[in-house]
Amino acid sequence: MPHRDLAHLPEPLAWAEPYRAKMVEPIPITTRAQRQRYIAAAGYNPFRLRADQVSIDLLTDSGTAAMSDAQWAALMMGDESYAGSRSFLRLQEAVQDVLGFPYVLPTHQGRAAENILFHTLVQPGQIVPNNMHFDTTKAHIQHRRARPVNLVIPQGRDPQSEHPFKGNMDVAALEALLQQEGDQVALIMLTVTCNNNGGQPVSMENIRQVSRLARRYGVRLFLDAARFAENAYFIQQREPGYQNVRLADIVREMMGFADGCTMSAKKDGLVNMGGFVAFRDEDLYRQASMYGVLYEGFLTYGGMSGRDMEALAAGLREVLNEDYLAARVGQVRYLWEQLRELGIPLVSPPGGHGVYVDAGRFLPHFRQDDFPGWALSVALYEEAGVRAVEIGTVMAGRDPQTGEHDYPEQELLRLAIPRRVYSSRHLDVVAEGLRRVWERREALPAYRFTYEPPVLRHFTAAFEPGPVPAGAARAR
Ligand code: F0G
Repeated sequence: MPHRDLAHLPEPLAWAEPYRAKMVEPIPITTRAQRQRYIAAAGYNPFRLRADQVSIDLLTDSGTAAMSDAQWAALMMGDESYAGSRSFLRLQEAVQDVLGFPYVLPTHQGRAAENILFHTLVQPGQIVPNNMHFDTTKAHIQHRRARPVNLVIPQGRDPQSEHPFKGNMDVAALEALLQQEGDQVALIMLTVTCNNNGGQPVSMENIRQVSRLARRYGVRLFLDAARFAENAYFIQQREPGYQNVRLADIVREMMGFADGCTMSAKKDGLVNMGGFVAFRDEDLYRQASMYGVLYEGFLTYGGMSGRDMEALAAGLREVLNEDYLAARVGQVRYLWEQLRELGIPLVSPPGGHGVYVDAGRFLPHFRQDDFPGWALSVALYEEAGVRAVEIGTVMAGRDPQTGEHDYPEQELLRLAIPRRVYSSRHLDVVAEGLRRVWERREALPAYRFTYEPPVLRHFTAAFEPGPVPAGAARAR
């Protein structure tokens, strides 16, 4: 989509954000000298920056959306009754209408939904395949002493592959697993869109094939629906036969193949907090209810207040507005295209919720234990006040057995775009910041730990800049 030149578009409004500001939140404008002080004081860890030291915050698209006036109005209608809250009934109705699942347990966020589902369905020693498990999903399965397995198609592991559905499950690999160890498979999951490889979508055909296998082997299929609307939009745009199908119908078809879903409503629920687990089957819902009450709260509020359920009920319907999704996914593509024109190595094609920079190819003279993605995140903050997140060796942690870094296949920097928050002008600043970092990439230092916590080290670790890795000229 040609975003920067509107002259030849038949409809100039086609790509404008379909909303305007009614309330604004000031963001700090800082100087380079200030930013250098702030990041040094934060131990060169962007997670340890104060949010008011960050101008454009692309750390995550989770819980960072701007709600609409309709959602704020809905908030006032919250019914805070402990049992039988009207707000719960409105949320339940939205889940039934939009997703088609009759039973829903509200939770405080997505990982709580995972906790309830896996307590219900996963026993120690069992296996849970997924295209790619999100970190919390993987951790909750391991917490049940079961084994998470990632079976995304090989193109999904190749940052340069232009495959339109890089979130697809490798159906042959899934079938082989079901043949060999089918009795150990607790359930199958599919993450739509697939966060860990760049917000890449799963095609309807792939969901259909996976559900066919699930049924043949008598195993349940659940979707991780955190970004279900963005996935539906990609199906409409990219999959033959869906161009003229309404997004609402695409979502119902996707969900129709599944036995239920987990939901982090902080993404496509367009709210700042909340989630749920939904079921088609009443018996399963009954079993899960026990854990819902134990871990979250009574069945009609779970982990949410009445007003939050109201805002979510409204958000679930709003997110399927086609103009909104065109602008949302268009904004991600807009940033991606600017960076690609600069020659910056990226994960292709652009996904639904952010741009993933291929830090390994951006800094090819870095070894993985020089932390290239981390170095880029610090440089981008110093350059332009933009906070992004490393998805690489620092985040991956150490192998508990060997104590060595658990080197990931890719060293990435994620620029996650909050929903309805930033203008394309802000994204121009992000692109300009990265351009300047790209210009001086041979001068970027490696980073070394000065404090390394034993688990989830990226959140609280501290670093110091090390030497500039050698071989920069050679690597060009
Ligand atoms: N599933 C997916 C695909 C996710 O991306 C996330 C969260 C979760 C589940 C867990 O949901 O945070 O509400 O408990 N992803 C965030 C991110 C944290 O930044 O990508 P949660």
